[in-house]
Amino acid sequence: MNNSLFYSPLSKVLLSVMCWYGPHVYLNEFIRENLCGRIMEVGVYNGENAVRMVRAAVKGLPASEVEYHGFDFFSSYSTERIGRKLDETGCKYTLFEGNTMDTVPEAAGKLRAMDIIFIDGGKSFNEAWSDWEGSSRLMHQGTGVFVHNVDFSGVARMVTSIPRDRYDVKLFTPQFEGKVALIRIKSSN
Ligand SMILES: C[S@@+](CC[C@H](N)C(=O)[O-])C[C@H]1O[C@@H](n2cnc3c(N)ncnc32)[C@H](O)[C@@H]1O
Repeated sequence: MNNSLFYSPLSKVLLSVMCWYGPHVYLNEFIRENLCGRIMEVGVYNGENAVRMVRAAVKGLPASEVEYHGFDFFSSYSTERIGRKLDETGCKYTLFEGNTMDTVPEAAGKLRAMDIIFIDGGKSFNEAWSDWEGSSRLMHQGTGVFVHNVDFSGVARMVTSIPRDRYDVKLFTPQFEGKVALIRIKSSN
C-alpha cells in the first residue's frame, strides 16, 4: 500500500469528513461496556449511526429491551426511511421530528433517563446549549453524554459553559475525527 497517499493531507481531510457521519466506535464501546439499553441521539441524519448503536446494545441485551430515541428535522432522510432501518433491529424506537430546540426540551419532560446520549445536531451555541440542557435532564448517575464536533466554536462554548462542580467533562480526539466530549455526573453529587 502507498503510505504517502494514506497519510496525505487530502486523505486526512476526506477521512475526517467521512467520520462526521462514520462509525463513532467510542459510542459502541461505551454501549457494550455499560450494557446500555436506552439510547438517545440528537442529529440522526441517515440513521446509520442509530442502527450501529442499537446493534452494539443488542449484543448485551434482548432487542425488546433496547430503546432508541432520535431527534432531527428528518428533511434529508424521512422518519419512514429511518424507521425501516430501525425495524430490522427489533428495538423499540421513537423519532422526534422538528427543531431540536423545541423537541428535545419537550421530550425531556416525558422520557425516562437514558444510558447514553449522543449530541450531534446543530452546531451553533444556542442549538448546542439547548440540546445539552434538555439532555442533562435525562441523565442518571451512569449516563454518558457524548458531544460531537467540539471543534466548532458554538459547540466548544457550550462544552466550556458546563458547570464543572456538577459534571465531569473529558475531551478526547478519536482518530480522523474532531474533538469529542464525554460528560458524566460527578460521582460526589
Ligand atoms: C452531523 S449530522 C448527524 C450525524 C449522525 N449523528 C451520525 O453520526 O451519522 C447532523 C444532523 O443534525 C440535524 N440538525 C441540525 N440542526 C438541527 C436542529 N436545530 N433541529 C433538528 N435537527 C437538526 C441535521 O438535519 C442533520 O441530520
